[in-house]
Amino acid sequence: MTYSAFDLTGKVALITGGNRGIGWGMAEALAQAGAEVAIWGRDGARNEEAVRKLSEIGVKAKGYAVDVANESEVNAAMTHTLADFGRVDFAVANAGIGGGGAKFGEFPTDLYRRVLSVNLDGVFFTLRAVCKHMTERAEAGDPGGSLVGVASLAAIEGAARNEAYAATKGAVISMIKSIAVEHARYGVRANAVLPGWIATDMTAGAQAAPAFAEKVIPRVPMRRWGEPKDFGGIAVYLASDASSYHSGDLFVIDGGYAIF
Ligand code: NAI
Repeated sequence: MTYSAFDLTGKVALITGGNRGIGWGMAEALAQAGAEVAIWGRDGARNEEAVRKLSEIGVKAKGYAVDVANESEVNAAMTHTLADFGRVDFAVANAGIGGGGAKFGEFPTDLYRRVLSVNLDGVFFTLRAVCKHMTERAEAGDPGGSLVGVASLAAIEGAARNEAYAATKGAVISMIKSIAVEHARYGVRANAVLPGWIATDMTAGAQAAPAFAEKVIPRVPMRRWGEPKDFGGIAVYLASDASSYHSGDLFVIDGGYAIF
């Protein structure tokens, strides 16, 4: 007898920003667990590279060039994804941009709007499109699905010089909880993942800063940067039937940083 709840064979996963960083760490693990994977990202060439690596794992994979801040592009990508895969069982609204680091009193309005458009509008457009599909599918007699919003520790801790970014991440958590309550009747679950300090392109500046190496990473109880692959397990768990009663929760994945 084996415990097979983590087997994702037959499930279709959609990851925004899945061509690199945390999204790629999730996409690779989902494919290794047997899921078919749709990658949404702005950069078509990066999408295709990710698709090539996923195909080598042996699963169906496709990339879609989409700016998640653009409502019509998101809706078109959803239409194309459903045409290609027939369904979506798991979706991660992961695509995001950093907050810039300006003093709050001097924070540029155009940057504020840009951060909101990708990190908040993008999550809203993506999850709205997926919820519409999952709701319609449930009403046709095939309930179920799992959604993830990638938030940040910035949502629950003070993030100096990052107020716009932090606000979007707090909003993602609120949106996820509301989605979870509204869609539970359709068998759809929704959870938020809150990464700590993860070594990706987004944190390249911090990774190169000596002050960061001296003061921040030593405060991480695990004593290291997180890696994209550290997000494979949570993706597989939340996509799988192993998490069938787990909804509306926050998963802090930070090597223990928030509690130290
Ligand atoms: P990354 O910069 O390596 O990857 C971001 C991905 O999102 C890329 O694939 C990029 O092309 C995509 N993307 C960005 N804007 C997009 C748009 N408008 N439309 C479509 N795709 C877009 O960053 P990372 O670190 O992997 O970030 C992933 C998520 O994790 C983000 O939401 C970020 O805010 C969050 N996060 C990251 C942390 C870290 O320490 N790296 C910490 C906390 C949260």
